[in-house]
Amino acid sequence: MTLLDGKALSNKVKEEVKVEVAQLIEEKKITPGLAVILVGNDAASATYVGSKAKACKAAGIYSVVHEMPDSITQNELLDIIARMNENPALDGILVQLPLPKHIDTTVVLEAIDPLKDVDGFHPYNVGRLVSNLDTFLPATPFGVMRMFEEYGIELSGKNVCVIGSSDIVGKPMASLLTNAKATVTVCNSRTKDLKAHTTAADVVVVAVGVPHLLKADMLKENAIVIDVGINRLDTGKLTGDADFEDCKDKCSHITPVPGGVGPMTIAMLLKNTLKAAKLREKREHN
Ligand code: GUN
Repeated sequence: MTLLDGKALSNKVKEEVKVEVAQLIEEKKITPGLAVILVGNDAASATYVGSKAKACKAAGIYSVVHEMPDSITQNELLDIIARMNENPALDGILVQLPLPKHIDTTVVLEAIDPLKDVDGFHPYNVGRLVSNLDTFLPATPFGVMRMFEEYGIELSGKNVCVIGSSDIVGKPMASLLTNAKATVTVCNSRTKDLKAHTTAADVVVVAVGVPHLLKADMLKENAIVIDVGINRLDTGKLTGDADFEDCKDKCSHITPVPGGVGPMTIAMLLKNTLKAAKLREKREHN
């Protein structure tokens, strides 16, 4: 069994970004900039946003976190985004999800300039991803694809089962895998006989937020398991959507939680912010 070490790979990606950021600053006098908008006081969201800001700093990327109270109106939020769209120092704009219920997430995501949409959540960029065109890839599935590449895991012709059909992970993951010529099945909470789908899969990607949903008896021999879940148990311990101890001996490759997919997400956000800054440089000099 090979452990897919997202911690080590994320450090490698962050180092790649840091070198390229330094080059961009030195040669083109452009410092990549990221704005993160955090609405309300969800503890997990605040932790993620803090980690994103810290990672930007370490990579030489300018970042600013806008913290807004829960009481902010949708129009106030849209005004802030409109100003960020016009701000030349900001290459990327990220609105941390989920948003409070009185705010329409789709309207907010559509207000972000697609050229600054480093999350890849704007419908324009979602369409480009589905069409296999160059775009900002949502950070978590982007990170998973980088893991496959790094560990020499060929996807063409493989049966891949994606459990979870969220806009943030499951759907873009399925599109990327389809573009890589995998045969993709997307399961959700209504799926009848989940086990029939997972046991037919060479690769299982699980992203549902249900601790230990995936067990060894749901896997074929030598399956590859990518666990996107990060669940905090009552004990305070973090655990994935796969039962790692149960699954690990049946797998050829598996991601641990923590230390698997999680660290990749932030590294790929930095990559997207660098990409946005390079696009700005091209626009300004052509
Ligand atoms: N909430 C959970 N994951 C994400 C993400 O990748 N981006 C944003 N903006 N919010 C999230």
